[in-house]
Amino acid sequence: MRLAIYPGSFDPITNGHLDVIARAATLFDEIIVAAASNEAKPGLFSMEERVDMLRQVTERFPNVSVSAFNGLLVEFASAHGAVAVVRGLRAISDFEFEFQMALMNRKLQPNIETVFLTPREEYTYISSRIVKEIARLGGAVDEFVPAPVADALRKKLRIAG
Ligand code: PNS
Repeated sequence: MRLAIYPGSFDPITNGHLDVIARAATLFDEIIVAAASNEAKPGLFSMEERVDMLRQVTERFPNVSVSAFNGLLVEFASAHGAVAVVRGLRAISDFEFEFQMALMNRKLQPNIETVFLTPREEYTYISSRIVKEIARLGGAVDEFVPAPVADALRKKLRIAG
């Protein structure tokens, strides 16, 4: 059984993330989508809301589950017996941070490989940060995020505003 962890902030999940999950789900027996809680960076959605959205939009993948985690990614990955960490690479601009993280994670836990997957090219310019900004300024985000996330963004920003 080859299990991989797909970690991220997922604040919120976008179509780009979902495309990476779909690809990873064909390569590994099991995928755990792991939402990292970062107390220094609370984000727009609570951890419960992020996990709830992740569960809704990954329901159709029988080998994908969702979890929240605190602390080091490699510890979470080891505790679940993962062989790999999956990360999406959209552009050269992602590379430096991803390379640094992959090498540091390897230093901390040499048995876990980082595997980079590239989403469909029409998703390469999507990021959670930009989607939130567009939604905050009243733009339509339906093309960039799954429908339950677009609804959640509208609700959240209406409540916030
Ligand atoms: O979606 P993001 O914000 O690019 O995801 C970054 C994430 C959550 C994968 C990264 O910050 C992480 O792994 N956090 C957990 C803490 C940890 O292990 N940090 C050391 C990484 S070298």
